[in-house]
Amino acid sequence: MELNRRTVIAGAAAAGITAVATGGTAHAKGGGRAPVKSLFGTLADGTEVHRWSLANGGTRMKVLSYGGIVQSLEIPDRRGRYANVSLGFDTIEEYVASSPYFGALVGRYGNRIGQGRFTLDGTTYQLSVNDGDNSLHGGEKGFDKRVWDVEPFTRGTDVGLVLRYTSADGEMGYPGTLRTKATYTLNRHGDWRIDYEATTDKPTVCNLTSHVYYNLAGEASGTIYDHELSIDASRYTPVDSGLIPTGELARVAGTPFDFRRAKPVGRDIRVAHEQLLYGKGLDHNWVLDKGSTRRPAHAATLRDPSSGRTMRIATTEPGLQFYSGNFLDGSLVGSGGTVYRQGDGLCLETQHFPDSPNQPAFPSTVLRPGQTYRTTTVHSFGA
Ligand code: GLA
Repeated sequence: MELNRRTVIAGAAAAGITAVATGGTAHAKGGGRAPVKSLFGTLADGTEVHRWSLANGGTRMKVLSYGGIVQSLEIPDRRGRYANVSLGFDTIEEYVASSPYFGALVGRYGNRIGQGRFTLDGTTYQLSVNDGDNSLHGGEKGFDKRVWDVEPFTRGTDVGLVLRYTSADGEMGYPGTLRTKATYTLNRHGDWRIDYEATTDKPTVCNLTSHVYYNLAGEASGTIYDHELSIDASRYTPVDSGLIPTGELARVAGTPFDFRRAKPVGRDIRVAHEQLLYGKGLDHNWVLDKGSTRRPAHAATLRDPSSGRTMRIATTEPGLQFYSGNFLDGSLVGSGGTVYRQGDGLCLETQHFPDSPNQPAFPSTVLRPGQTYRTTTVHSFGA
């Protein structure tokens, strides 16, 4: 891995790529490296897509201007050996043609809105429908398929990227011009922090998240069923057969959804439970016991026993969509050159609950002019 990465960087340098440093130095303190930009590919309309490489505190990340996609995330195992722990592709063409949101920034609305419709202040809005009868992850052309404006920064011992995208009033059916900003920061401990911000000029709804598929043993190493997961949630939101919440906040106790104590992801995945049939596995929103918080608070811990790699997630959000990669069906070839099959990666999407615009009892996702949407999620890696 170490060797591969060096080769890639050397190749990038040979291709005339420049290091961008905002503080007059190419290196941040604490082992951080100022983000380096290279050309990743070109879209059909001629738009260039860039890839930014950044590293700090032992974490190495590659991010695309297309979809804010984390194309590669390398962290060391207990013996210091690096692996890419995120599923993805090698080319922009594959991301455009067939990505199931690999690594992407998701918006305007993470997860589903039933019938792709909601009513706000007496007006009903019809959204782009792209998942049966429902709207999923912002509709047909969500934020994962938009080219973001990316600016690198180094600040003290932190390095990072500021990604901006302005979504026009009416885009995918949503009201209001939504000015969106996502800041990816790597600190000197190697933690990856995402700060999301958005403002609107008309009342609207907003629910942004990140859709990295993790496999802490390394992308292309098989399934995640041995990973041990704990989620600080006593309840989850059961769904109907179209994966829209019924509105109930059901207790996890005594069900396959009980992750209050760490257990292998695959342990209960074959239990004959109606909810597992609907999701073709685990694909549900957990109601975090901490609720919405001003500061990021602990939500979940993931550990791969074979490599020793761990990831802790802290968030300001009240919910966590845990998706066990159920729809991966062997039809996509990943960056490691192998096909991705069911369960080869899992997503832990911090968010508000699915279909909140139609569920008055769920925490609100309404954003009004004059307000600023602000949420933060921190991923801390260890081994
Ligand atoms: C989310 C959803 C899943 C699936 C994936 C993308 O995690 O909950 O049902 O749509 O995104 O494939």
